[in-house]
Amino acid sequence: MKVEPPAVSSYDEIKVNIREIEAILSAPPMELPPWPEAMITLPDGRTVYIRAIQESDIRPMLGYLEQVMKVEKDFYDIVGVRVYGEVLALLRKRMKDPFTMVGLVDGEWLGFANGRVWDKTRAISLHTLTFSRRAKLGWPMYYAKTYYAMEILKVDEWWSTFESYNGWRMAGLSMAQPTKPYPEYQHELGGAKVFYLNQDMWQGRVKNYIKEVIGEDLNFKVTNAVRKANATFRVPETLDL
Ligand SMILES: CC(C)(COP(=O)(O)OP(=O)(O)OC[C@H]1O[C@@H](n2cnc3c(N)ncnc32)[C@H](O)[C@@H]1OP(=O)(O)O)[C@@H](O)C(=O)NCCC(=O)NCCS
Repeated sequence: MKVEPPAVSSYDEIKVNIREIEAILSAPPMELPPWPEAMITLPDGRTVYIRAIQESDIRPMLGYLEQVMKVEKDFYDIVGVRVYGEVLALLRKRMKDPFTMVGLVDGEWLGFANGRVWDKTRAISLHTLTFSRRAKLGWPMYYAKTYYAMEILKVDEWWSTFESYNGWRMAGLSMAQPTKPYPEYQHELGGAKVFYLNQDMWQGRVKNYIKEVIGEDLNFKVTNAVRKANATFRVPETLDL
């Protein structure tokens, strides 16, 4: 768009350094506490190591997600393509204050959970995704990010939405999450309903949830053996959903 200037100007153009544009486009990040690695044993006996994503994970993850987004079953396609965007956004720094966790079994990437911080009072759940079916792996992955929001960030509210029946059953139904009035409140994932937890709900009941489902709590005292077994990140060789 061009408009004639109302004053005589000594120059016709201003050169802008793209770093100055970047400073305007991306907000300064909040100082988020790190996710302290955790482990938990699934009902089938496998130990899942849940750690924060590392930059070196991202390229292989994107390659695998290109396959996941083509699976037209149980909403893997829509979740796969959105997670691709969210993981790429970490590299491109196009998401405000994200937190992202990977669930590994012997280094193999089988679980994913992410969210972001809206402000000091609220965090937003984005996606949970698993590549080992009927293992109850989604549950501790969703619990881990909820724990991070409620116990480590100590936000007042945690806002989720559910794009699949399995997602709603795992966390909406199973954690008895109510919804905000609709359509006044809409989740950033496609304007869907907002399901939420507040500190009263979390402290009163939900905090105990993973013990009820899995039989044990997240264990934050990760052993050296588990750390070592998961030292090398790799995506699954096959896609069996
Ligand atoms: C949602 C999700 C994380 C839930 O994780 P999960 O409960 O550990 O994993 P599963 O999908 O393997 O199992 C959920 C249910 O699906 C059904 N199911 C899964 N595979 C099945 C199969 N081969 N045949 C029949 N039912 C099957 C079962 O009812 C199972 O529950 P059960 O294990 O108690 O019997 C996972 O399903 C997922 O990644 N889905 C795609 C992405 C998604 O929808 N994310 C959530 C967005 S809100």
